[in-house]
Amino acid sequence: MKATDPAKVIARIDDLPTLPRTVLRITEMVNDPKSSAKDLARVITDDQVLTARLLKLVNSSFYGFPQRISTVTAAIVLLGFDAIRNLLLTTSVFDLFAVRNKKIKLAQETYWDHSLGCAVGAKVIGSYLRHDKIEELFVAGLLHDIGKIVEMMFLPREFSRIVSRVKEDKILMITAENDILGYNHADIGKLLAQKWNLPVKLVEIIACHHQPELAGGFTTEAAIVHLADILCRALEMGSGGDDKIPPLNPQAWQSLKMSTQAFEPIMDTMSREYLDISAFIA
Ligand SMILES: [Fe+2]
Ligand SMILES: [Fe+2]
Repeated sequence: MKATDPAKVIARIDDLPTLPRTVLRITEMVNDPKSSAKDLARVITDDQVLTARLLKLVNSSFYGFPQRISTVTAAIVLLGFDAIRNLLLTTSVFDLFAVRNKKIKLAQETYWDHSLGCAVGAKVIGSYLRHDKIEELFVAGLLHDIGKIVEMMFLPREFSRIVSRVKEDKILMITAENDILGYNHADIGKLLAQKWNLPVKLVEIIACHHQPELAGGFTTEAAIVHLADILCRALEMGSGGDDKIPPLNPQAWQSLKMSTQAFEPIMDTMSREYLDISAFIA
């Protein structure tokens, strides 16, 4: 049976969990030019878990600040509104999909490792290209394959058929998805990102990470995540669901105006930062 009707997909997406209220409020505040670091700090400190996480992360080697940061306000001033929102979004999304089933949990973890690798990759490529919003690229990388997690949890039967097809035919996961579902994880990820009211840029990057040229005004960002997806597979960070390294989209590659000599330093930095952040998130 093929579930090609997009309305059916949306209906299933409607069963999905929503983001915690605090994170949604934080997202609103970040978008409001009138809100101050103090206002934002107040919302965060109301939530002890978020506060503890935020301080733990800003003090991790990933950020490398020389002094210890002990207040939320100091963290906001040092990292900026966008970075704080993105960090909290990241940890909340991890929680959202936390499951007790051991088998699913293990499989999910390898997908998250892949997503984390892609997130780190997008950030490293972004800073190599002197992109001005590298935090956003990190979040985009982290969420790029969120559709696979959704399939795993909400379409378990179809998902196991996809996994078997990938193994038997040695094909890319996205090919098996299109074949079995009539749509793929990028389509599902787009719907989820829209449901969460994430910024249009994130929605487009998630939707187009396999075809960056379709990302409208965000083709560069989508191309960065596309390349990061390939490099983290080459570095064997987690699993993208198949053992294949997808081909580099020629248009995306051209648009980045990079030389292949950049791969080595980028991949070295990726490996180092991946270890740092894995230690924090695990
Ligand atoms: Fe993907
Ligand atoms: Fe991926």
